Amino acid sequence: MNKKYFIVTYGCQMNVHESEKIAGILHARGYTESLSEQDADIIVFNTCCIRENAENHAYGNIGALKKYKKSHPDRLIAVGGCMTQQPGAAEKLRRKFPFVDVIFGTHNLEDLGELLDRKANRRKSVVEIWEQEGKIREQDIAYRTSYPNAWVNIMYGCNNFCSYCIVPYVRGRERSRSPEAVVGEVNSLLDRGYKEITLLGQNVNSYGNDRGGEVSFPQLLHQICSRDEKFRLRFMTSNPKDFGVDLVEAIAAHPQICHLVHLPVQAGSDRILRQMNRKYTAEEYLKKIEMLRRRIPDCQVTTDIMVGFPTETEEDFQKTLELVKAADFTTAFTFVYSRRSGTVAAQMDGQIPEEVQKERIMRLVELVNAQTREKSVAYRGQTIEILCEDFDEKKNLYLGRDEYGRMGYFADRRNRIGEFVRIKIAETSGVSLMGTVEDTEEKEQG
Ligand code: SAH
Ligand code: SF4
Ligand code: F3S
Repeated sequence: MNKKYFIVTYGCQMNVHESEKIAGILHARGYTESLSEQDADIIVFNTCCIRENAENHAYGNIGALKKYKKSHPDRLIAVGGCMTQQPGAAEKLRRKFPFVDVIFGTHNLEDLGELLDRKANRRKSVVEIWEQEGKIREQDIAYRTSYPNAWVNIMYGCNNFCSYCIVPYVRGRERSRSPEAVVGEVNSLLDRGYKEITLLGQNVNSYGNDRGGEVSFPQLLHQICSRDEKFRLRFMTSNPKDFGVDLVEAIAAHPQICHLVHLPVQAGSDRILRQMNRKYTAEEYLKKIEMLRRRIPDCQVTTDIMVGFPTETEEDFQKTLELVKAADFTTAFTFVYSRRSGTVAAQMDGQIPEEVQKERIMRLVELVNAQTREKSVAYRGQTIEILCEDFDEKKNLYLGRDEYGRMGYFADRRNRIGEFVRIKIAETSGVSLMGTVEDTEEKEQG
């Protein structure tokens, strides 16, 4: 019998990759991917709890399946990820949605198959959340569908406890994979033809600290790039507090490492940064990106920014706007602070009213968009190299990103997915670039 699965993913890149692992577990059990929830024999929700709206989405979508489950009692529903890992959350889910069959957490994702077996032998739902992180399981079980891009975890967890953030509570302490395991996985992906590898960790700069520091993150990059061939290497996320010269030198040393660094700043006011427990000042942050650009002039920087953190005044917010102007970000992901139960900031006085938060985020987004648009215009007439990653059926165009993460579109008669393609930019629209293929030689061969 051909059984099908459907996975709904919320949250960050790490979760997207974990959904690939869930897919791998289900493939090993004979399932194949379904294109719709309605045809699936099992629906898995891989949840996020970084902000309240991420949780609300998940609750809404799980709740919406109540009727469906009644009319299809043989279909399975499983819920895992960061949301279920919060204290009391699994219980709450079970009470609210008794029709959910399996609830698992972030530390036992690899056991999903076993939990499904357990469920097969009983009526009651199976709930298993581990409070503690377990040993890293090294087997690459991911079923990847993102060719030519692949994600590779280099570490799990976070030790930083930024005062607003739930991640350390739901992902446990930092655990680094061995350099051999990381390099082995990257090599195996490159052997299989993947062209872009993104290394994942909540703060890649503290890679290896929990292993006695034998191989640091920059050293890990050197090891990976010793493979002398063309591919792209990216990483996220780099916490500014530990961003230093060694990393900049590693980026400068290897053509494979993209000249785009994601360096979340969060805020421009030192008082707020202190309250956030970020351990750097706005000036220190700006000095770091200055140092980066002095060494690698074409290096671009993207960031995450939050508005409406407790006690943020208009003056504090102005400092964020000033920093955005000074840092000249390529793009910025902007968020409204969301109160997360269990975090230090949730207890702080001076929570900011929603109207003020909304008004600030609008001003911030406007500034960020204006800067991004300006950068788009500068692309006109330029030739860029993109790694073709997909075909857009609606537009009838191939698409892919340049080294700096910009999406470029082009037409071609033959399939270019997985190839590096040089295109000349004729038009820009918002953040997207439209171009024509320049490498005519290869084109004619095809
Ligand atoms: N480890 C990364 C961040 C991972 S979370 C780092 O330290 O940079 C991704 C982003 O979500 C953060 O950079 C932050 O901007 C945002 N974020 C985290 N907690 C939040 C909260 N409680 N409310 C709103 N945004 C939040
Ligand atoms: Fe959250 Fe801070 Fe850890 Fe990033 S470094 S995951 S923001 S606690
Ligand atoms: Fe990621 Fe959300 Fe968890 S951002 S680590 S999936 S809380």
